This record gives sequence, C-alpha cells and structure tokens, in this order.
Amino acid sequence: MTATTAAQAPRWSAGELSDWMTPQLDRVEAALARWVGADAPAHLGEAMRYAVLDGGKRLRPLLVVAASQAVAPLAGAPTPAVEEAALRAACAVELIHAYSLVHDDLPCMDNDVLRRGKPTVHVKFGEADALLAGDALQALAFELLVPDGERVPDAVQARLVRLLARAAGGQGMAGGQAIDLASVGRRLTEAELREMHRLKTGALLQGSVEMGAACAGELPAEVLAGLRDYGAALGLAFQVVDDILDVVADSATLGKTAGKDAAADKPTYVSLLGLDGARANAARLLDEALAALARTRLSDTAALRALAHMVVDRDR
Ligand code: IPE
Ligand code: IPE
Ligand code: MG
Ligand code: MG
Ligand code: MG
Repeated sequence: MTATTAAQAPRWSAGELSDWMTPQLDRVEAALARWVGADAPAHLGEAMRYAVLDGGKRLRPLLVVAASQAVAPLAGAPTPAVEEAALRAACAVELIHAYSLVHDDLPCMDNDVLRRGKPTVHVKFGEADALLAGDALQALAFELLVPDGERVPDAVQARLVRLLARAAGGQGMAGGQAIDLASVGRRLTEAELREMHRLKTGALLQGSVEMGAACAGELPAEVLAGLRDYGAALGLAFQVVDDILDVVADSATLGKTAGKDAAADKPTYVSLLGLDGARANAARLLDEALAALARTRLSDTAALRALAHMVVDRDR
C-alpha cells in the first residue's frame, strides 16, 4: 500500500468500530473506577475520582489498547501479560491526561469552569485540592505501571514509565503548556504553533501509541517508526480539531466552554489559517497518520485507522 492510497484502505463501519470499542471502554472504565480509590484523605480521593470518572472520550486509552492489539501477533510475551500491561498503560495515560485537564482549567492557566459537562475540579473542590488532585493522579499513573507480581516483565514496566515520563514532562505536555501560556496575545508562525501543539497535546497521544506497542516487548524498527509517525500526526490533528471545535461547536456538545481560545487571545490553527485552512490541515494530518500506519505493514490496523478517522471527524 502506498501513502496516497492509505486513506482509502477499507474502513470500519460505525457498527464495527462500536463493536470493538464498547468492550474496551468497559474494561478501562471498570479499571479506572477500581484503581482511583476514594481513600486519599480529606476529600482528596473524592476530588481525584471526580476528575477521572464519569466523562471523557477515553481516546488515549483506546489508542494504547489498539496499538497493543495491532502488535500482539509479533509479541514474544504471552497475551495475558500484554493485556495486563496495556490495561495499566491505558489507565496511566488517562490519569496523566485527567491531571493535565485539572491543572489546565485552573484560574492561573485557562480559568475554565466547565469540564466534561461538570463544574471543573477547582470550582467544586477549591484550587488547592485541584492542584493536589492533579499531583496525586500523576503519581498514581506511574504507580500503575510498576505492579507487584511477575506478569508484566520488568523491562516492559521500565519502558512504559520512561515513555509516559517523556510524554508528560518538560519535553512533552508540560513543556507545551508552558509555551501555550507564554504565547497568549502573540501571533506564532505555523512552525511555532505546530511545535506548541505537538508538545502540549501530541506528545501524550503519540506516547499512548508507543506505550501500547511497548506492551509487546521488542519490535522491529520499522514497526516502531511507523507507529511513532502515526501517533505524531494523529496527536497534532487532535489539537487542530480541538482548536476548530472551540470555534464551531457549542458548550453543551463539548462539555466545556466554547469560544475560549479567541476570548483568551490564544494562537490556534483557526486564528492562524482560518477555519478552512485548519480543516485542510487536519485532513492532511489524517492522511499522514494513515500512510505511516501502512508503512508498519502490520496486518491488523483496523482499530488504529478507525481511531484516526474518529479524531478528525468528531464533533466533541
Ligand atoms: C481535551 O482532550 C484536551 C486536549 C488535549 C485538547 P479531550 O478532548 O481528549 O478531553 P476528554 O478526555 O474527552 O474530556
Ligand atoms: C489543553 O489544551 C492541552 C492540555 C495539555 C490539557 P486546551 O487548553 O486547548 O484544552 P481544552 O480546550 O481546555 O480542553
Ligand atoms: Mg490550555
Ligand atoms: Mg484549556
Ligand atoms: Mg482547546
């Protein structure tokens, strides 16, 4: 398959996607509900559960699981070990994401009052508890990756920790958020904007794909490279579409306040390229993601392809 035909590869119907997605989501929701306990003191556990449960598209966990399943046929490890690692990685990435949202919404950052259709964590619990809930979710994410017991090999655990740390830290999400805050009221070049989006959002999505792949242990270089490129293109597309939805969607559909980027004078793909330009950019990134996936030559990438389409076609 060549790059130009990748986007035309057979695509799952909505029903096929839902048949695959529903049991994956059920497993992830149940695991999150189990692992994010309410037992942290003085309402902290309550704030953590409020931040994580009952909401969110769970795209990052789905990417972890889909990537792990795509590479599973190449795995030396037995399938239950790959599955356990993938479930832990899926939840860990979602915890980092949930923490990033709690902090992103704080008055010192985007100052948002609505998230996932509910009052933001700091509105409900106060700023100090929101800060601490984020801190605790981040720590819990890494704890999930290093379970007692022998099922997930040590080398896989170590690799998952490293990938998540890179994706979340100064060279990833946190670094991108710093650029975001430093860019308010500025007009960025397209290259600067791309770098900001690549870090603040793309890194964690790419990390999700790489973590899914890492669950299976060592992989051929071309498989890893293709998955990495798929994750990078998809991750960037995701934030371009987030910029578009901030302009075209309403708050009820989004579950968060629409129109915030223009109100806060943030540089976005829409402010730089206009709506049509941003949409064309997202479409190009989808093509890039699908072409990268084709380069892996993995035999079963239907879920990863469907998730890429979902990122670009979504309305919330
Ligand atoms: C929102 O992410 C924050 C960005 C990185 C743009 P999502 O749109 O994935 O948020 P949830 O998890 O579905 O609430
Ligand atoms: C957030 O970007 C990226 C994060 C790392 C949380 P946005 O600030 O655009 O996300 P939303 O629109 O508030 O969800
Ligand atoms: Mg923000
Ligand atoms: Mg925000
Ligand atoms: Mg946004």
